[in-house]
Amino acid sequence: MSKKPFYITTPIYYPSGDPHIGHCYTTTACDSIARYKRMQGYDVMFLTGTDEHGLKIEQKAAAAGVTPKEYVDGIVEKFKALWNCMNISYDRYIRTTDDYHVESVQKIFKELYDKGYIYKGEYSGKYCTPCESFWTDSQLDENGCCPECHRPVALAKEEAYFMKMSPFADRIEKLLLDTDYLRPKTRAVELVNNFIKPGLEDLCVSRTTFKWGVPVSFDEEHVVYVWIDALSNYITALGYLNGAHDDFDTFWPADVHMVAKDIMRFHAIIWPAMLMALDLPLPKHLAVHGWITFNGEKMSKSLGNVIDPFILSERYGADAIRYHILREMALGADSSFSNEIMINRINADLANGLGNLVSRTVAMADKYFGGTLPIEREADAVDDDFKAVILGLCPAVDGYIDETKIKQALEEIFKAVDRANKYIDETEPWKLGKDDSKKARLATVLYNLLDGIRIISALLAPFMPTVMPKVWEQIGASEDDVKYENLGKFGVLPENVTVHKGEILFPRIDVEKEIAELNELLEKSMADAKSKLSADEKGETAEPIELAPEITIDDFAKVELRVGKVTACEKVKKSSKLLCLQIDDGMGGRQVVSGIAKYYKPEDLIGRKVQFVANLKPCTLCGTESNGMICAADTADGVKVIFVDDSIPVGSKIR
Ligand code: MSP
Repeated sequence: MSKKPFYITTPIYYPSGDPHIGHCYTTTACDSIARYKRMQGYDVMFLTGTDEHGLKIEQKAAAAGVTPKEYVDGIVEKFKALWNCMNISYDRYIRTTDDYHVESVQKIFKELYDKGYIYKGEYSGKYCTPCESFWTDSQLDENGCCPECHRPVALAKEEAYFMKMSPFADRIEKLLLDTDYLRPKTRAVELVNNFIKPGLEDLCVSRTTFKWGVPVSFDEEHVVYVWIDALSNYITALGYLNGAHDDFDTFWPADVHMVAKDIMRFHAIIWPAMLMALDLPLPKHLAVHGWITFNGEKMSKSLGNVIDPFILSERYGADAIRYHILREMALGADSSFSNEIMINRINADLANGLGNLVSRTVAMADKYFGGTLPIEREADAVDDDFKAVILGLCPAVDGYIDETKIKQALEEIFKAVDRANKYIDETEPWKLGKDDSKKARLATVLYNLLDGIRIISALLAPFMPTVMPKVWEQIGASEDDVKYENLGKFGVLPENVTVHKGEILFPRIDVEKEIAELNELLEKSMADAKSKLSADEKGETAEPIELAPEITIDDFAKVELRVGKVTACEKVKKSSKLLCLQIDDGMGGRQVVSGIAKYYKPEDLIGRKVQFVANLKPCTLCGTESNGMICAADTADGVKVIFVDDSIPVGSKIR
């Protein structure tokens, strides 16, 4: 009988800088699911890769004095080295610069054009270069900046191709609200309210201002919008409209696309629309997770807060890092990366919990029976509950994997580890070992423990693939013993199993010493990473790369910038971002709302002089009226208000 197919994908990553721990989450999660499904007997296709086109890459390459292809080639090697180091078992790696992908993207674009879903028009809108995204005015944040990265956007105007989105709005709304496509489902309402209810706008799907992309085959001035190029990877990698592969019919539709929340919109709206337009079946699930944060910020190159995964895996091994990131991250939520949490987890769950369970059991089998258990048995009622917990484990973990709930799957397995350690306390084998008449009982207890460890370790292997084979070696389990079909049964190890004492699986770490050393190392590596960033990435230049169109002095004169003094300030209720400032403006005073609550406490601002736009049309933000805008700069360390020298009187006009 042929195996059932299972297709899982990570996003394809931008090779615009070195990979970091933030990139590891999705890949490790998908790898664990892929390994689990392989263990269950599925024919798995696990796809990852790199998204290599776009203005950002073109600019980076130019700054480095190399061609874009040369630039990405170097970084792709680093991604592959990281996946190797994290023991990632991808089946296929796609690069959007691969010829077959380019060919397919051109055909997809042409097909959408021929079907009338793509048409030529003129684009005028706000573009965020770092995110390669166009935004409508209503989507910009309260400072008029990109809602994703909060950097300034630039007005872009050009001839462009558009994709009609409205024909798909109803079907997409149903997909999000009425099906199990989006996980967690709680995000569906937010998407529908923000993007579909206000009217799904046509999408600009080509660019003419840079060259590094897939040329539109019938209009070579244009390159295909990077997201159309990138999303297509999920089908081109299987051979859709190309001859490089031929497993599209086997694996499409995908079982799981896994992405982080910042790219959910593209996968929840644009991707289904593309597939609907191509008359292709829709993927079964889109699993959306949060970000790995560091001190509350998304871990990313440009924030300079990046943990070098190579350093971490060298110190603790890939399995410990995989365990830490998978164990902390719940579907949908952010999770913070912390050296302390990671080391405490290694100590508590891996060294004390699992490691100790294996080493104690193997050591006792060795001490009391010279390594080989006798076959005499003596059962006791206390065994039943332990066995029931172990037997319930495989179905429970299967269920969580099917729901892409990895954190819960691991929690379930570690509950069984705790139960096994409790079973040792309940049965006190060290006491049985002192009494010759209790040998059969002792052999039974140790056998139950070894067989329990067999099931636990086999279910853990997809998450921690490096260490588990060492456990099997120690408990005397054969390859067959740890096969999936044997994980729902007790009593699979031979009755006279022989254990082999081996190395400590997870050495205990001296927390204080390690944290001090690690912090020093990581600070150095973060400083190195930051020093390698260009000025723009560090946020040292406030201007967007693409300047807004030129204006005359008369245009500028329309903006009234004035000096004011903050007399009172408080947080806006119902908003974590907004502060409400009372300004002495030399004209009787006014109230201004500003999106700087993350960066300033009210007391930091009271008494300070600021610049503000005095003739901005009033608006209401989170129910609070705002009459103007405080001027601030975007920097690598966040938003900074432009304070004014105290000698300048309030009300002064700035020109
Ligand atoms: N190239 C696009 C994806 C195209 S998929 C058709 C892209 N690339 S990316 O490299 O910027 O990000 C890829 C994925 O990594 C995204 O899901 C992104 O959110 C995720 N992560 C990047 N930093 C992350 C964290 N700090 N934490 C968790 N995920 C993170 O977007």
